[in-house]
Amino acid sequence: MGVDAMLTHQSLRRLVEPGRVHRSLYTDPQIFALEMERIFGAAWIYVGHESQVPQVGDFVATRIGLKPIVLVRHEDGKVYALHNQCAHRGAMVVAPEAGNAHEFRCCYHGWTYHTDGRIKSIPLQHGYPACLDPKDPKLAMVQVPRVTSYRGFIFASLATDGPDLQEFLGYAATSLDDMVDRAPDGEIEAAGGVFKHAYNGNWKLYLENLCDAAHPLFVHQSSIEAAKAQADTVHSDGSGEIAVRQMRQNAAPYSFWESQVGIWTYTNGHSFLGDYHDDAKLVAAMNDPVFRDYIAKLEARKGKERAKKILEVRRWNTNVYPNLSFMSQFQQLRVVHPVAPNRTVVYTYNFRLKGAPEAMFEQTIAFANIVNGTGSLVLTDDLETYGRIDAGLSSEGAEWLQIGRGFTSDTADATGGVRGKNSTSEVYIRNMYDAWLTYMTGEGQPVRAAAQ
Ligand code: FES
Ligand SMILES: [Fe+2]
Repeated sequence: MGVDAMLTHQSLRRLVEPGRVHRSLYTDPQIFALEMERIFGAAWIYVGHESQVPQVGDFVATRIGLKPIVLVRHEDGKVYALHNQCAHRGAMVVAPEAGNAHEFRCCYHGWTYHTDGRIKSIPLQHGYPACLDPKDPKLAMVQVPRVTSYRGFIFASLATDGPDLQEFLGYAATSLDDMVDRAPDGEIEAAGGVFKHAYNGNWKLYLENLCDAAHPLFVHQSSIEAAKAQADTVHSDGSGEIAVRQMRQNAAPYSFWESQVGIWTYTNGHSFLGDYHDDAKLVAAMNDPVFRDYIAKLEARKGKERAKKILEVRRWNTNVYPNLSFMSQFQQLRVVHPVAPNRTVVYTYNFRLKGAPEAMFEQTIAFANIVNGTGSLVLTDDLETYGRIDAGLSSEGAEWLQIGRGFTSDTADATGGVRGKNSTSEVYIRNMYDAWLTYMTGEGQPVRAAAQ
């Protein structure tokens, strides 16, 4: 089956069936272009954290879909997202990835902009026709219409209307709460730079992998073996112990994933793998001396009861569709940047818990180096897999990709979502395709729906 030259709603709906999707969703340039317009052009897209732009004039360059934007704190204290394009002849105005500026000046002919995007000065303005009005808001670094933050996490939407951020996030907001609540001082900050990696494959593969409990045993076999061979005593100071535990835990058998860990999904494509980190199961390592020190600080600030409640949230990755995946326990946050149907870039940020011992942040970086960083022993396996999917899809093999595991046992959940019976359910992929269809056609389809 080929994709229709004109992608009608009907033809798009035909590509997503209960339990399976057409492989062109991962390769077709027309579909990719439509996704950029209808998903990335409509949803709330994570664009940065308040701690990346704390001072007036601080800016971070990023993208919404393929569109370059600049996130900047203006002198009115607000954060704006500006299209990174000069109103003169189109050059991208802000080239550095981050910095501080009192104005933005285009490199080409020197048009200059205030940090809220308004034109400040136009060289040789007398030469232009009188109708060129520098106060015209369209003659500016145009503002992205909606920018809102939730507990420091900044999202922007290219759409002028639609659900507000809170409604968009729904129950997934509790995972962002979890990320912040873990800080004894109640604040977190992005720190330690950014890991960047790219892979040859579609952007959707990334979120599909981040809650995939059925893959570690195979994909991460080499690092599992290496970690098993690692003596416990090597890290007598505790450093790196958590990362080694993580690699070993990837060896957990199916019986573990099918009984101990769950997956929850919510409207708009969001999901998380839950029931995860605790000493009895996976890598929480609460007896690690650094964690003990941290817990003592948390209890001192919040009280024993509240600290207990905070630490009881044991989620692995939370995906906020379409471009964000994060893990509260080790303060990792990944932003997905689609580049082409078969090319994706991911930025990984680490966060410091304010008020926590500095060694906690060192644990965060150690964990990232092993699991999420560019030279990670674990991530590199996943990147290889994405590339192999892309290579596999270039064959003339099976036309439909199977996402039906757990389909008959998904159940409605008291938190308002749908839960896979256990973490090996592909319910979260079906859930993302529910959202995909809604964005792409304006109509949902019960790809995810719980069996009644
Ligand atoms: S393109 Fe920016 S000043 Fe000419
Ligand atoms: Fe993996």
